[in-house]
Amino acid sequence: MGSRIRGFVRRPLPATNALFLLVVLLSLLVLLADFSRASARLVHRSCCSPTQLSTLASLSAKQNLTVTGSTLSPFMVPRVSGTANNTLVQQHIISTFTALDWHVDQDPFEDNTPIGRIKFNNIIVTKNINAARKLVLAAHFDSKYFKDQEFIGATDSAVPCAILVDIATTLNPYLDTYLDPSLTIQMIFFDGEEAFKTWTLTDSLYGSRHLAEKWAATYVSGYRPSSSGIGNLSGSSSHSILSTIDVLVLLDLLGSRASPGGKPAQIYNTHPETAHHWQSLVEIQQSLAKSSVVSAGLVGQMTETGDNGYLMASSGWQSNHAIDDDHRPFQQRGVPIVHIIPQQFPTVWHTVDDNADAIDPEIVHDFALIFRVFVAQYLGLNVF
Ligand SMILES: *[C@@H]1O[C@H](CO)[C@@H](O)[C@H](O)[C@H]1NC(C)=O
Ligand SMILES: *[C@@H]1O[C@H](CO)[C@@H](O)[C@H](O)[C@H]1NC(C)=O
Ligand SMILES: *[C@@H]1O[C@H](CO)[C@@H](O)[C@H](O)[C@H]1NC(C)=O
Ligand SMILES: [Zn+2]
Repeated sequence: MGSRIRGFVRRPLPATNALFLLVVLLSLLVLLADFSRASARLVHRSCCSPTQLSTLASLSAKQNLTVTGSTLSPFMVPRVSGTANNTLVQQHIISTFTALDWHVDQDPFEDNTPIGRIKFNNIIVTKNINAARKLVLAAHFDSKYFKDQEFIGATDSAVPCAILVDIATTLNPYLDTYLDPSLTIQMIFFDGEEAFKTWTLTDSLYGSRHLAEKWAATYVSGYRPSSSGIGNLSGSSSHSILSTIDVLVLLDLLGSRASPGGKPAQIYNTHPETAHHWQSLVEIQQSLAKSSVVSAGLVGQMTETGDNGYLMASSGWQSNHAIDDDHRPFQQRGVPIVHIIPQQFPTVWHTVDDNADAIDPEIVHDFALIFRVFVAQYLGLNVF
């Protein structure tokens, strides 16, 4: 319990930021009323019948998502920012997405840290770089630095990175024949999420702070068919890269086993501005459970009404329980966020035990499938 509570308070939002976020959230809520009809129109709803769900489930290679499997194992190494192993993981991400014929961007930079000047590199991969709008999925690929111990960070965030790779790998044939040139999927692998010493505004989120600031100041031109609910919908001709993001879905601390006698980590929506996306995820989780293509454990723990899965339908915990993470620099600049992180951190969090033994491959696969379906539905992929 101690470590879970410590985990919970370990990344509080500083008061000034919380106030700022509140203002942003309130403005978004006001805007939401006006724009909800527009965004509902732009979110495709054709997916997913039971047949489509079973097709999407059949794309899995379950063994690849085990700790020794080809999708997860490349991330299961210590990979502290600025180290040779971190560079090897970068190269793995780059070669994987190059082979899938995605556009690969790098964002190399240096920053001062409590242990000296460190080199970082965010990796951004995009299926169709010319699309005006993007669904963005993100996770951090660095692992936390400890002076005296080897730390794998299996849940933090090797598993979320593997889930992203799995989505890209399984959906790529459908993405290759995707016909909507205005919308695409992008994935961001953040470097330098972890603090080198103690989590502060300057010792944490090195990669996401750098990228959000850069993208806010980088303008693209052309008509923007926005569905993000922010900015000028009447067709401004010049807008920042950030405004091309429909929503940023950030995955963190996923894949850990349930504690003995307990349930797997449960996750609550902390972002009212994206409640409609959360609702889609909860519905997808329920449909997958009904089709019995997720683990028996997930099916067993859910209620008839579709609650009590990993993604909680109830609104018991809301934005006041938000956890600081890589989404913050984007949220502060108006990007809509879905944050997939258990409010009670895994018991292994930031200990040597966050390693292969902490991982339940069934839970990893369940999450991969939920987000695979979410992406297929969001883009409106032609799945039969
Ligand atoms: C699973 O791994 C094998 C071997 O690396 C690879 O050929 C295959 O494409 C992978 N499939 C998925 C869905 O990850
Ligand atoms: C780099 O990764 C390898 C496993 O691939 C591991 O044995 C080694 O200890 C890691 N190096 C560092 C400095 O963590
Ligand atoms: C939105 O953009 C259009 C065209 O650039 C401009 O005429 C209009 O004033 C803008 N509206 C707002 C509220 O900024
Ligand atoms: Zn961490």
